[in-house]
Amino acid sequence: MTTQSPTPIHDAVREHYAERIKKNASCCGSPDCCSTDSNLYPADLLSTLPAGESAVSYGCGDPITLASLLPGQTVLDLGSGAGLDCFFAAKKVGETGRAIGVDMTPEMIERATASAKRMGITNVEFRQGYLEDLPVEKDSVDVIISNCVINLSPDKAKVFAEAFRVLKPGGKLAVSDIVTDGPLPEEVKQSLSAWAGCVAGAIDARDYTAMMESAGFREITLTPVFFDQETVDSALDEMKLDVKDYPREAIHKTVYSAKITAYKPA
Ligand SMILES: C[S@@+](CC[C@H](N)C(=O)[O-])C[C@H]1O[C@@H](n2cnc3c(N)ncnc32)[C@H](O)[C@@H]1O
Repeated sequence: MTTQSPTPIHDAVREHYAERIKKNASCCGSPDCCSTDSNLYPADLLSTLPAGESAVSYGCGDPITLASLLPGQTVLDLGSGAGLDCFFAAKKVGETGRAIGVDMTPEMIERATASAKRMGITNVEFRQGYLEDLPVEKDSVDVIISNCVINLSPDKAKVFAEAFRVLKPGGKLAVSDIVTDGPLPEEVKQSLSAWAGCVAGAIDARDYTAMMESAGFREITLTPVFFDQETVDSALDEMKLDVKDYPREAIHKTVYSAKITAYKPA
């Protein structure tokens, strides 16, 4: 039973991603995933997908490589979308392990579940729910992954507290996400379309890691991965985001993707 009530931000984000998956669009409008999906992952990982399956990604990085998954592990994907990272994770942890995806958008859960069935992946399941109130047992997960999702939450501190609760002691968090270096203009922060496009909800990298630390995480690392200007421009075009007195070059320098890792103390 969920205790999280959807906020206007949850509603806007859910509608945005429901629309995208219905249209089969695989670019989320953030300054990264508008390249091509396959650019995010190494070829040897992409080749683990069954022949004929395409990599439907709304992500901004490769949390699978960051996670260094091992056979037998239980992996939880926060905001699993169409399921791609869960499918990779299920393959890495093998039949003795399993992958669980949580997402609030019913259309994403339906798509991911149908794809898993079609691909014959049996050690994966998708649960509908909020990151701020995970439908997952405490101390039950070895590794948490997430790809371009935590920036979308209106209550990131709660997401980190929930991630900490469900991880086993010694468990690892491996996340790709959008963060900022410094503040964004108020006009950008107020835009729901920029929020759904992974820009307005992004917070300063220092605040992000401080929230993780407050939740109890330790050994936190954050490595920036900057976008090229062309990628930023096409994403901003899609969001129709043009802010007076705030040139696009400034957004390019302020908003970036990051590889983030941390551990729950043993
Ligand atoms: C940018 S997409 C990323 C999807 C997937 N991780 C990928 O890489 O393709 C964001 C996903 O997170 C989900 N999401 C956003 N905020 C959420 C929240 N607070 N609780 C649960 N799911 C959320 C959306 O429904 C959407 O499917």
